[in-house]
Amino acid sequence: MCFGFTKVGWKVAYNLSGSESLDIRCFLLAAFIIKYRKWLSAIKNVMYMKIVKQLTLNWQELRQFSIARWPEEMGTTHGVDHWDRVAKFGEMLYVDGVDMNVVVAFAYLHDVERKNNYIDDGHGQRASMLVDSIRHNYLRDFNDEQVSLLKRACELHTLRHRTGNISIDTCFDADRLDLPRVGIIPDYKLMATSRGAKIASNPHYLRFYDEKVSAWSNMNT
Ligand SMILES: [Fe+2]
Ligand SMILES: [Fe+2]
Repeated sequence: MCFGFTKVGWKVAYNLSGSESLDIRCFLLAAFIIKYRKWLSAIKNVMYMKIVKQLTLNWQELRQFSIARWPEEMGTTHGVDHWDRVAKFGEMLYVDGVDMNVVVAFAYLHDVERKNNYIDDGHGQRASMLVDSIRHNYLRDFNDEQVSLLKRACELHTLRHRTGNISIDTCFDADRLDLPRVGIIPDYKLMATSRGAKIASNPHYLRFYDEKVSAWSNMNT
């Protein structure tokens, strides 16, 4: 189908409506989205691939490392399902300037050193130390700045609301946006990034969380 023809068709439909009414405009927009959601989804996937192509990190390898390290009896509240969603939220929060290598590595490392599923104040610090120990292995393509950002993000993710660094703050918000899994609704006023605040303050956020968030791994494996 010719997309240009479709565009003209909708314009005609709008003109035929003969109304400046906002309701009519909203109705036509909603109808357009429903009818052409496959096109919109394709555009979204192209944008998504642009982000994925930026990754030099072998995130599948890092994911397997963290899965192997995670005690099975700890379950998935802070385990791989959570890590996959943090990576996915990180992708949604992406803006120019964010280092997605840092964000995705954070997703798969920030909680892996937990010793329990409750209060474990030291797990961020331990994750930061783990970064040093895998620096020349799973993070072999990271430069010194990326290692430093990742260590700070892991270390501070339970201690600070925001740092002012867009990559670290994106890590924080990607983690926070997955709080509904433990029955906590993130407070938009406490988000670290404007994009994170926008998502958390959206009245449809919870419905969106339940229905739309698919695991990063499902789209990449
Ligand atoms: Fe954590
Ligand atoms: Fe987490």
